[in-house]
Amino acid sequence: MALFNVGGAFYALDGICPHQGGPLGQGCLTEAIVTCPWHGWQFDVRTGQHQLSKAIRQPTFATRVEGDAVWIDLEGI
Ligand code: FES
Repeated sequence: MALFNVGGAFYALDGICPHQGGPLGQGCLTEAIVTCPWHGWQFDVRTGQHQLSKAIRQPTFATRVEGDAVWIDLEGI
């Protein structure tokens, strides 16, 4: 799981990059775009959409904040 904070809104993605399994949660986040640290594939963390190929969309999960906790909805996994 990879969790991102974009201006105070939290977004969760499958943290395993679909290219070769890199750790998306360790990627650099620029605004809402994360760059995989292994080979540079980029995804919009709000939608999971790959930035070059419309055919690739990383799974996303709903989040909600309760106090200091961020909950991720894993239903459907
Ligand atoms: S493993 Fe993520 S870009 Fe290659």
